[in-house]
Amino acid sequence: MIILVSGASGFVGGAITRHLLDAGQEVRAMNRSTAAAMQKHAGNETGRRALAEGRLTFVEADVTKPDTLPAAVEGVDTVIHAAQFTGAPVENPAKGLTYAAVDRDGTLNLIGAIAQVYGAPTSGPAMARFPSGSPRFLYMSGITVSAEAREPWDRAKWQAEEAIRGSGLTWTIVRSCWAYGPNDSALNRILGYSDYLPFVPIFGRGEDPLSPVFVEDIGQLIALLIANPDNSADTTVKLGGPDTVTLNELLELALRAKGRRRPILHIPKPLGRVQGAVMQFLPGRPLTPDAVDFVAQGGAVSEADRALLAERFPEFRGTGVREGLGNYLGR
Ligand SMILES: NC(=O)c1ccc[n+]([C@@H]2O[C@H](COP(=O)([O-])OP(=O)(O)OC[C@H]3O[C@@H](n4cnc5c(N)ncnc54)[C@H](OP(=O)(O)O)[C@@H]3O)[C@@H](O)[C@H]2O)c1
Repeated sequence: MIILVSGASGFVGGAITRHLLDAGQEVRAMNRSTAAAMQKHAGNETGRRALAEGRLTFVEADVTKPDTLPAAVEGVDTVIHAAQFTGAPVENPAKGLTYAAVDRDGTLNLIGAIAQVYGAPTSGPAMARFPSGSPRFLYMSGITVSAEAREPWDRAKWQAEEAIRGSGLTWTIVRSCWAYGPNDSALNRILGYSDYLPFVPIFGRGEDPLSPVFVEDIGQLIALLIANPDNSADTTVKLGGPDTVTLNELLELALRAKGRRRPILHIPKPLGRVQGAVMQFLPGRPLTPDAVDFVAQGGAVSEADRALLAERFPEFRGTGVREGLGNYLGR
């Protein structure tokens, strides 16, 4: 059974790939740059063993370039879509780096490539289904995504979700809360300010609830989803960590795990948006107004979501935020 993982060199896709390989699965890692994916996975024991056993292969493909995708999806049993554009959440429309181009259109392109390789869906009594033998489709979505959400990232992901649900493929959508871990580019960046500033700046009041997910838990859950396909066919799963905290509390815990004390400086969101409006014209486009809104938003699961996940996957063990942070920030 070959599992295609898009974004396999990324933060989330990298953890998913490692957990699948740990579970003995065969993975085809898909990225625009095979070199980056190879370097990432050859850097750990699991990846090296899988390479030696021929269970880890690489394919270069770009979700924004439909011609590159049929070869990537050919012969796979499952597609796990965990690609994200470089620099997210800072969109750069001039370079095609947007949620619409990668999350929405990239997903449509992947489904189109599956139709090209496996045959278009045919009508049945209920709805059109892809021919048997077509891959199952798993998509990494976000906890704030809903039909009502109006932010550009939520809209693009909602449209991607709708395309998947209506595709005729067997699907699972994982709506994850904010993920953290040794190589994340969000929490680590904020904590990095404490290396040289006497305070830690964030946009907004930092009071919205978050259920942060240790990135290893995403990998753990996806490996369970793959091992138990019937539990999650045509289902949306909401994934959050066992603790719900505010960003202020998360930062305090993270700083404590690093053995530091720093006050948090709250930059009002309107001021942050003005900063983004100016900085979007600087070389490298370091910030945009929308990116300020993205990083300042919360995102939590309810107890009902946690109970549903526990019922479906009793083996799943979420990592508490103190333990998760302590795993890599602890001195
Ligand atoms: N991180 C979180 O907290 C979080 C939470 C919830 C959901 N998610 C979702 O999880 C997914 C992955 O996020 P992430 O944080 O892991 O992102 P990431 O670390 O930035 O990784 C992005 C990956 O996508 C690949 N990629 C970029 N552009 C591509 C393209 N055009 N075609 C094919 N591959 C492309 C990159 O490799 P190359 O550049 O080599 O192609 C890289 O492997 C996203 O859908 C994100 O919304 C993330």
